[in-house]
Amino acid sequence: MDNISQLKKRIDERDFKISVIGLGYVGLPLALAFSQEGFPVSGLDKDPRKVKALNEGKSYVDDIPSLQVEYSLKKGFLATTRETEALAGADAVFICVPTPLTKTKEPDLSYVVSAGKSISRFLKLGELVVLVSTTYPGTTEEVLQPLLEKGGRKAGSHFFLAFSPERVDPGNKKFNIRNTPKVVGGVTPACAELASFLLSTIVERIVPVSSPRVAEMTKLLENTYRVVNISLVNELAQLSRRMKVDIWEVIEAASTKPYGFTPFYPGPGMGGHCIPIDPFYLSWKARAFDFNLRFVELAGEINDSMPYFVVDLVAEALNHEGKPLKGSKVLILGASYKQDISDLRESPALKIIPLLEQREARVYYCDPLVPTLELGGGTMKSLSLSGKPWEEADCVLLLTAHKVFPYKEIASKSKLIVDTRNAFKGIEGNIWRL
Ligand SMILES: NC(=O)c1ccc[n+]([C@@H]2O[C@H](COP(=O)([O-])OP(=O)(O)OC[C@H]3O[C@@H](n4cnc5c(N)ncnc54)[C@H](O)[C@@H]3O)[C@@H](O)[C@H]2O)c1
Repeated sequence: MDNISQLKKRIDERDFKISVIGLGYVGLPLALAFSQEGFPVSGLDKDPRKVKALNEGKSYVDDIPSLQVEYSLKKGFLATTRETEALAGADAVFICVPTPLTKTKEPDLSYVVSAGKSISRFLKLGELVVLVSTTYPGTTEEVLQPLLEKGGRKAGSHFFLAFSPERVDPGNKKFNIRNTPKVVGGVTPACAELASFLLSTIVERIVPVSSPRVAEMTKLLENTYRVVNISLVNELAQLSRRMKVDIWEVIEAASTKPYGFTPFYPGPGMGGHCIPIDPFYLSWKARAFDFNLRFVELAGEINDSMPYFVVDLVAEALNHEGKPLKGSKVLILGASYKQDISDLRESPALKIIPLLEQREARVYYCDPLVPTLELGGGTMKSLSLSGKPWEEADCVLLLTAHKVFPYKEIASKSKLIVDTRNAFKGIEGNIWRL
């Protein structure tokens, strides 16, 4: 039996130790899926609070109920901050660490490099390494592979290396890790074969591609497509306001076209760890090829302008009521970046609150999923829903349309509402829509 067949047999028998580096929104569901499939799994995270929570059976990821963590703990899942516990003897390691941007919008691969160095220290013959973190085309082969090939080891013979991006959509009840097709690109055909075989134990459909670069670019195409289309509709929303056309009605009408149109919706700006960041990985890499990725830069510019547009809209709406923004009580409804999840990363609220404060508005917020938020060195506390804070506000600014908000009641008791998500659709009230 050749090497690959032996490894596949061990995968079939679940005699294959899996390690996941980075137990966040991406790594935790992946680790638990393997554990629930019967594999011995250890997860490594450098944040001791996360490790402690997991070992107490508590989840901190919105889509993962604590019950799932408890179940995996019983099956032997181990979360740890210690590399020796997680990486020594691993048969496969998945890298799910952050890939943020620096302040100057350049890729920060320091987490990937640090994970690669750790794996390299423990790498054994026949081990599979899969990079999952979103990144620019070339990262797996140009950054990770050299780290793992230190000491004369060779990808494809001594160890296996692949890239397989994550497509998780936080809060999506229909698509999860199992029924979302997974793209896999290996450094060699054997790398792709082994990675695909292992992932097919937890994912219904594997989409093999010819190289890690194709897999890396696929993920960036998906996210760039979203960024460009969201920015297009945000620009049209700005124009529509000036032309006194209702952009929401326009989108609804356009959506009746049975082909060739996919609706995207405007909003107060983009948030999360993916959409506002990933395309800039591509435009940064494009520059190394003497190529200026204008769509991405333009999209970034338009989306960055949305918080300013929203603040001007609040000022205009208040002005219409005979009130200045200065001194007015503005209640932000929803602070997280997305409906029904608690993730605050890159949330437009974090830009809009300081902009309103700079213009001397008195800003409060209410988000049952975000009890506190850190801003400008201070901590803001969410007002409670039961206190009906909208009744006191001069203007309610809806940024995130959580299902828990009592929209009818808010509309009937608020003096003025600025709705950036069309959340008050069909409800009567003094409502200004984006
Ligand atoms: N969140 C999403 O919806 C999503 C979707 C698709 C792809 N991605 C991509 O997946 C990657 C991870 O994103 P995330 O949202 O899970 O991030 P996250 O911040 O939720 O989780 C990353 C975890 O990695 C840990 N970590 C960092 N460096 C480490 C190291 N050297 N060793 C051990 N642990 C380390 C952090 O403590 C953190 O818990 C990113 O590249 C992101 O772009 C995210």
